[in-house]
Amino acid sequence: SEVDQNTMKEKAAQRAADTVWSGMRLGVGTGSTVKFFIDALGKRRKEGLALGAVVTTSDRSRQQLESLGFTVGELSDVEHLDLTIDGADRVDSHLDGIKGGGGALTMEKNVAVHSLHNTWIVDESKVVDHLGGFPLPVEVLPISAKQVFNQFADEGLLPRFRTTDTNERYVTHYGNFIIDLYIDPLPAPRGLASYLDSTVGVVEHGLFLGICDTVIIAHEDNTIEIKK
Ligand code: A5P
Repeated sequence: SEVDQNTMKEKAAQRAADTVWSGMRLGVGTGSTVKFFIDALGKRRKEGLALGAVVTTSDRSRQQLESLGFTVGELSDVEHLDLTIDGADRVDSHLDGIKGGGGALTMEKNVAVHSLHNTWIVDESKVVDHLGGFPLPVEVLPISAKQVFNQFADEGLLPRFRTTDTNERYVTHYGNFIIDLYIDPLPAPRGLASYLDSTVGVVEHGLFLGICDTVIIAHEDNTIEIKK
């Protein structure tokens, strides 16, 4: 149930908050699991935690952090981050994953690759043997979105433009569109990633390969598993 899932998310988030130390330059991601993480971080701040810098990947997380008294900076303020904590939509046994369900993938990937360590916090429903079971988000420039969409359709990737509740085209933080690829399971993720990376008009995609080094998984039986 959703209540149990929230309990799992909160457990993973609390465990992640225990790995944060004063002086760290910390990246903070986006999503319902990270929301619990930020709450836990706020508690640690009250107990004296003083971070070296905080950078985040969405306005939502920024607002929550600021409401708890954190000063949120920009990635351009630091050389690199020490650790980024984020959620994920899917993660496999190699710690490769799909992210971007929330539409913040471009900022998330930029923060992640400039972070020395990346921890993902997930409940066990996100863990898979082969990446798939979740549409792969691709952020595209509006100018060629129609052509890129058709190219994806020709490749058999089952593209759909993401829309809002009111059926408008979803627009990202950077003014771009999201095309979700419904092909499942994904064909060899590395091949697909390099195809997307080399497609003109693609800004970023939700395949996060070789980026995460630690996953904190909350299981339904109340245990926490840490995979490195
Ligand atoms: C945001 O763009 C995503 O990558 C999130 O990190 C991901 O969707 C996980 O979100 P939840 O914690 O809400 O499942």
